[in-house]
Amino acid sequence: PVEERIDLLLAQMTLAEKVGQTHQVANIDPDADAAEIAAGRISSSLYASGPTGGNERDEGVLVGNIDAAQRHAVEGSRLGIPLLFGRDVIHGHRTVGPVPLGIAASFDEGLAEQVGEIAAREAVVDGVAWTFAPMVDLSEEPRWGRVAESLGETPVLSGRLAAGLVRGFQGDDVSDPDRLAACAKHFAGYGLAAGGRDYDTVSVGENTLRNLHLRPFKDAVDAGVTTVMAAFNDVDGIPMHAHEHLIREVLKGEWGFDGMVVADWNGVGQIVNAGVAADLREAAALAIRAGVDLDMCGGAYLAHLGELVESGEVELALVDDAVRRVLRLKFRLGLFERPYAARPGASNAPTPETREVAMRAGQAAHVLVKNDGVLPLDLSSAAAGSLLVSGAFVDDGDALLGTWVLDGRGEDVVTPGEALRERLGDRVTVADGRFSDVTLMQARGAETTVLLLGEHRSRSGEAQSVVDIGLPPGQLEVLRAVAAFGKPLVAVVYTGRPLDLSEVLDLADAVVVVWHPGTEAGNALASVLLGDVEPSGRLPMTFPLTTGHIPTSTHQRPTGRLIRADVDHKEGRYIDALTYPRLPFGFGLSYTTVDYGAPTVSAPTMTTDGSVTLSVTVTNTGERPCREVVQLYFRDPVAQVTRPLVELTDWALVDLDPGQAREVTFDVCAGQTAYAGRDLTTRVDEGEIVLLTGPDAARLQPVSVTVTKKDS
Ligand code: IFM
Repeated sequence: PVEERIDLLLAQMTLAEKVGQTHQVANIDPDADAAEIAAGRISSSLYASGPTGGNERDEGVLVGNIDAAQRHAVEGSRLGIPLLFGRDVIHGHRTVGPVPLGIAASFDEGLAEQVGEIAAREAVVDGVAWTFAPMVDLSEEPRWGRVAESLGETPVLSGRLAAGLVRGFQGDDVSDPDRLAACAKHFAGYGLAAGGRDYDTVSVGENTLRNLHLRPFKDAVDAGVTTVMAAFNDVDGIPMHAHEHLIREVLKGEWGFDGMVVADWNGVGQIVNAGVAADLREAAALAIRAGVDLDMCGGAYLAHLGELVESGEVELALVDDAVRRVLRLKFRLGLFERPYAARPGASNAPTPETREVAMRAGQAAHVLVKNDGVLPLDLSSAAAGSLLVSGAFVDDGDALLGTWVLDGRGEDVVTPGEALRERLGDRVTVADGRFSDVTLMQARGAETTVLLLGEHRSRSGEAQSVVDIGLPPGQLEVLRAVAAFGKPLVAVVYTGRPLDLSEVLDLADAVVVVWHPGTEAGNALASVLLGDVEPSGRLPMTFPLTTGHIPTSTHQRPTGRLIRADVDHKEGRYIDALTYPRLPFGFGLSYTTVDYGAPTVSAPTMTTDGSVTLSVTVTNTGERPCREVVQLYFRDPVAQVTRPLVELTDWALVDLDPGQAREVTFDVCAGQTAYAGRDLTTRVDEGEIVLLTGPDAARLQPVSVTVTKKDS
């Protein structure tokens, strides 16, 4: 029936009204834009900032504006087609979870889903129907500020967590008034911007795109994502907003995506800046042919699509297809039945329930990367002032929210200072956030110091690329001064990207990478430092040894001179440094130790459409419980094209009591080793596949299985 309703509408619409459905504006003004809305010349609005201009949030103004504008569309326009309101609700709305890179560190799809769900439930109260998330661009480039918004560097982790977020945002049925339409972005290759410079050009072949970068998008599409956003970059010379092959042929054709493709902000117009269209008119023609359905805040379609159709340069069928996809989304969301905000006037401030989700997500994001035994802190019988906590983040809630937070508020954040004071009373001294001589005196007097280091949230995110992934200025000097006292020192690292932690790892006795954890930042930190919960996060991106090693990733492919990751990574690739990463993908410690047995397989062979069961025994050899992320990788030693030396293909979250051993099993299908071969079609090779298990990408034990021809 939806398609029939769309047919009916299309049959009644004028060309101008059709073009109107492809036009999105920023920050709609219900009064100033009333006539345009009523004329059917606006399809959608993106609230990029607070309706009052800045990012500040005036209670009720957002929903008030949205509903007032919607009234003009539903009651004032000829066909009553509702407007669609979008906003960047990325890792929370009022209650904010960790940045997506922190969510990825949990390796927990269920948790990702819960973060998406609370974000959706809060956002719909403000009249938002559509979010521009999840971002699924693979990130191998720590200089690029947007890695904070990514789900890491591997296709399988990114794809599965993206699917979790999509389920959380959209629910089982996106017409649920408590859910949002989601958007997989930015299609495609945005994470490969040259030099990590945001928006820069991308040189990548289709083989690498298909074998790595397109895969999480495909997973999001398979999970039912209703929209996809085009990327700002070009791919090998073709701006993505004009990339007919990737958008129309691959995404919409080969994958059968029947949802809506939205431009990025003025991405259609930027085809002109890229020198691939002479003017906005030509850009509009290229983008509609490529398959971009909704023109975000650029105006190219509104200004030119009508005349392009009338002159015969663009077929009406292309515009009809774009409008069909826009209308399909509006029907899927139930906007024709329920155009207005579901619960105007309701509160969407953080509640104990939403805080509980943010707390668990924050805890699960904590990655312990060094521990000489100082953690968990034992302060049960400590004297007053035993613990000093100091650093820029002690009481700065806003700094801990992370990138792309438009509605979360710094004052809702439980800071580390607040949480530790609450837990420890006078046993903790919370120093001024600015390091000073007083801080040093306090550190000299304390038994243990916890230094909160890293980047303010404003230093990561869009257009926040850096040339140096070292800590911000001044922090290492303080670390060195405090370390010189020779007392137990814990470094907590707030960051949206992998940083060069070499000196931090050398000087501190324990190091915890916590990303930007969101609303429950302080409570999550206190619970991990004091051992109420075990740290279980794992690095979703490789941490390079130095900036000069970038790009680093688990997907190093063999060359004529580099054939084994475990040996050849370490030497011979630079003359002035070792080559192995400082911290490999998947790395993270617990407060206990875990032993891995050698993996075994249920059969030495599997057919190309078959599977084997892989078993590995993991044993908690320490005295505390833990959650181990048991990781499964594979290597395809001989293929049609070079393939990664190791590639993550599955993992299991395994809870172990002290002393407990568990056999963990994975069903491994030959299909998991599929790849795009020389002719770019997907294939599963016969021959040896090496399966590898272990606690991270650098500590793996192999077992081989031979893939044989499928029985006829
Ligand atoms: O969603 C974002 C996108 O990621 C970057 N450009 C602007 C969009 C809308 O705010």
